[in-house]
Amino acid sequence: MSITGAAKLAGVVGWPVAHSRSPALHGYWLNEYKIDGAYVPVPIRPENLRRAIQAMPLLGFAGCNVTVPFKEDALRAVDDYEPISKRIGSINTIVLRPNGRLFGFSTDGYGFLTNLRSSLVGFNAAAGPAVVLGAGGAARAVVTALLDDGATEVRLVNRTPERATKLAKELGGPVRGIAWESRAEALSGAMLLVNATSLGMEGQPALELPLDNLPHEAVVNDIVYVPLETPLLAAARSRGNRVVDGLGMLLYQAQPGFEAWFGVKPEVTQGLRDAVLATLKRS
Ligand code: ATR
Repeated sequence: MSITGAAKLAGVVGWPVAHSRSPALHGYWLNEYKIDGAYVPVPIRPENLRRAIQAMPLLGFAGCNVTVPFKEDALRAVDDYEPISKRIGSINTIVLRPNGRLFGFSTDGYGFLTNLRSSLVGFNAAAGPAVVLGAGGAARAVVTALLDDGATEVRLVNRTPERATKLAKELGGPVRGIAWESRAEALSGAMLLVNATSLGMEGQPALELPLDNLPHEAVVNDIVYVPLETPLLAAARSRGNRVVDGLGMLLYQAQPGFEAWFGVKPEVTQGLRDAVLATLKRS
């Protein structure tokens, strides 16, 4: 769709940013809803991050997404942020408020939970123990979202045990760090298993995890989406577990930003999934 001189502007700030799927994703919605707007990639050198973000309103941007490697540093580049962002340790969305201040928040947890809820009607984190693999930024967002949704037990399994213990201590509540060597046993009695590591992603090592101890009623979610059906999801599916792929998290995390910048709450549809999947296949 062509745009006019009055087009609303947003984009994604990163370094490099060429890998980002966000322009294709938001571009699909702009087209779908016939919005006079543009969403562009904005490559910013790390030393310029704060100045670039602070300049967004001057350039007429309604806001932006923030991707690697800036998700943590962007927290210090905005004027205000959602209190929970501090606990998550990062933001991925910035909105220019009517008062002229730049407001940052993270939509990763929203994307994660909305993906599970839309795939599994009645999903409830309080239903039983969850096992989360990983202790990086993605795992942090996942665990925070599970706690907010009422999780009563989160088993955090990570290769580097200190990272799991540190994160468990920081997030508090029912989060417990577990050694990587004990990951197969940690699945006993779990109702949810989430892979929040990069294992199983194209070009990365495989995730070695026997699922024998996982109850058949448990849900398995991989945040990796290249390939869409990871070996973990394939193994879980073949033994009868319900599985949720990681593409939905990517798509749903984009919803709140789009709505704030362009004024329409966009839908995650099969058409959108197909369009974003096509960009993944091309790379
Ligand atoms: P992100 O912010 O995307 O979560 P990250 O902070 O680099 O990325 O975290 C990657 C996660 O994958 C970590 O939990 C990492 O484990 P470590 O904390 O021990 O580094 C995990 N990971 C990466 N490669 C791994 C491997 N070969 N075996 C086990 N875990 C791995």
